[in-house]
Amino acid sequence: MPTSPESATNPGLFEAVVNLCKRRGFVFPSAEIYGGIRSTYDYGPLGALMLRNVREAWWRAMIQERDDVVPIDAAILTNPRVWEASGHLATFTDPLVDCRNCKERWRADQIEGVCLNCGSRDLTEARPFNLMFKTYVGPVEAESSVAYLRPETAQGMFVNFLNVLTTTRRKPPFGIAQIGRAFRNEITPGNFVFRTREFELMELEFFVPPADSPRWHEYWCDQRLAWYRRYGIASEKLRLRPHETEELSHYSAATTDVEFLFPWGWGELEGIANRTDFDLRAHQEASGTSLEYFDQATGESYLPHVVEPAAGATRAMMAFLLAAYDEDEIGGERRAVLRLHPRLAPYQVAVLPLSKKDTLAPVSRDVLHRLQRHFMCEFDETQSIGRRYRRQDEIGTPYCVTIDFESLEDQQVTVRDRDSTEQTRLPIEDVVPHLSGRLGN
Ligand code: GAP
Repeated sequence: MPTSPESATNPGLFEAVVNLCKRRGFVFPSAEIYGGIRSTYDYGPLGALMLRNVREAWWRAMIQERDDVVPIDAAILTNPRVWEASGHLATFTDPLVDCRNCKERWRADQIEGVCLNCGSRDLTEARPFNLMFKTYVGPVEAESSVAYLRPETAQGMFVNFLNVLTTTRRKPPFGIAQIGRAFRNEITPGNFVFRTREFELMELEFFVPPADSPRWHEYWCDQRLAWYRRYGIASEKLRLRPHETEELSHYSAATTDVEFLFPWGWGELEGIANRTDFDLRAHQEASGTSLEYFDQATGESYLPHVVEPAAGATRAMMAFLLAAYDEDEIGGERRAVLRLHPRLAPYQVAVLPLSKKDTLAPVSRDVLHRLQRHFMCEFDETQSIGRRYRRQDEIGTPYCVTIDFESLEDQQVTVRDRDSTEQTRLPIEDVVPHLSGRLGN
């Protein structure tokens, strides 16, 4: 992984965010009461909300705001011939070495000939290790019932190309998009949710006339970079990095990564590949079904080329958290604050009655119910108001709505802004339109 001088400088940030994730309920080690399972995580209440918001932000930009992309939701287990044709059975491998001294296993390309566990140079020759998880479909564990958990969602879109083409009457350029779980038996997972064996992918396969693919590749690089900026990552923490020829995946003619400056250095957030007609051609040959598009305007049939922006939702969530984490001082008191984009924050609004007294309950519940129809809200009436504000700052809630005893008289509430801590007094009637206007998209 390439690093830069300004990176490797911030281990404190990584620790602070990992710690916050556990303490506040974003991410838990999986099955912790059984000692966990290496590099596998469960998403807690706040993590489940935020991951959903990351997916929705992607869906909004890639599907909802366009008229040339349609979604699908394909199966995780599919016919194993898909993985044979796609090249994953033969080439979806990492080079694996064993340390003869301590028996630890490593990806040869990540350790420069030295075991990171014991420092020994006594390593085996590198051999290819297939990253796909193998399982059996049905009750018989035979070669004929072998199936694989998908290592990418992309193939679900290639094998459905014809179905989508005919049912939606699309023509290139158009895209098929999908969000879903993917599984890779990574040799060295790590860095929290950066590299895990189960993760979530957000992928677009954009089918174009062959000659247009370089132009579309450039277009999607720009679009995807802009998406991370739109949701709050500063430009200086993002860059585009074209792959060297020897780095390219087996299907790619050109790939550019969107990279983020993680606390340990620049790391991949997303790969934008020009997959040419590699996949459609492979499935056409293996299945015997023509996957060509007939262009009525020119009277020609051709296999479209594919430009693929493929992003990790779980990895993107981690980058958004790292980019948003901040510490500052309010009224002489230090606070941790997640300056998340309002659409990514687990809760958009916290409803906070100043006191637990019954007199405030009806109006507080009324405010909560009005807001819940539009935003994800948390209701909190415990502890001092200052502590509740700190808690909401730390989990990134952009707005707190406070109900006090005066609210009973004047039907007004106070809206507090997470970033500036500014407070605005507003009629209850105006709170929903006011916040809708400030939440952005
Ligand atoms: N269909 C193309 C494809 O899957 P990829 O570069 O292998 O491309 C796309 O994966 C994105 O998925 C990566 O940029 C990364 O964000 C995420 N990703 C890949 N492996 C991952 C892992 N083991 N854990 C978490 N995220 C991962």
